[in-house]
Amino acid sequence: MTFQLVEHPLVQHYLTRLRDRDTPPDQFREFSDRIITLLLYEATRDLRSRIFPIQTPLEETDGHTIADRVVAVPILRAGLGLLGPVLELLPEVTVGYIGLERDERTAVASRYYVKLPPDIRGKTVMILDPMLATGGTARKAVEILKEYQPASVRLVCVVAAPEGIAALEEAYPDVMVFAAARDRQLNGQKYIMPGLGDYGDRLFGT
Ligand code: URA
Repeated sequence: MTFQLVEHPLVQHYLTRLRDRDTPPDQFREFSDRIITLLLYEATRDLRSRIFPIQTPLEETDGHTIADRVVAVPILRAGLGLLGPVLELLPEVTVGYIGLERDERTAVASRYYVKLPPDIRGKTVMILDPMLATGGTARKAVEILKEYQPASVRLVCVVAAPEGIAALEEAYPDVMVFAAARDRQLNGQKYIMPGLGDYGDRLFGT
């Protein structure tokens, strides 16, 4: 698995604002949009372009358009908060949704909602889930999506725990992960430490 830590100063600036417990939901959403926009810059770096002629006011030159087709898949609920910048930046993106719930006793994730576009085969799948904690949810999401034979699968998250990175790496070494931070560890309640709390609660004020 390729784990790419995006350490750009702007990413670290907005990550700090997200970590701050005094950041209220309206600002949290704004900083979340900004950090995801910056992470997308790296997460889309390998997309292929198609070159075509365009006419500037002065002469003809090469134009570029994104040739790869991307399917964004936010994981409910917190992943929804990551979708806005993806829709703004990526041309012709289609969107699927996956809802997973974890059995508290066995820690196994199972699907309660899956709604995917019909044409995933051969496309670039981008899973959106802000906190890679145990890796259980990410593994299940990749398992579901790989049934449809995409060309590649990548995960965009904000904070990753070593436990989640290892779990995903073990199951799916071909998946690329882009994150703003690799934190220290999970605590007893499976929260990432130092983390930023519950991303969904912070986004939606619940
Ligand atoms: N999900 C969150 O929102 N936060 C964590 O720390 C772990 C999982």
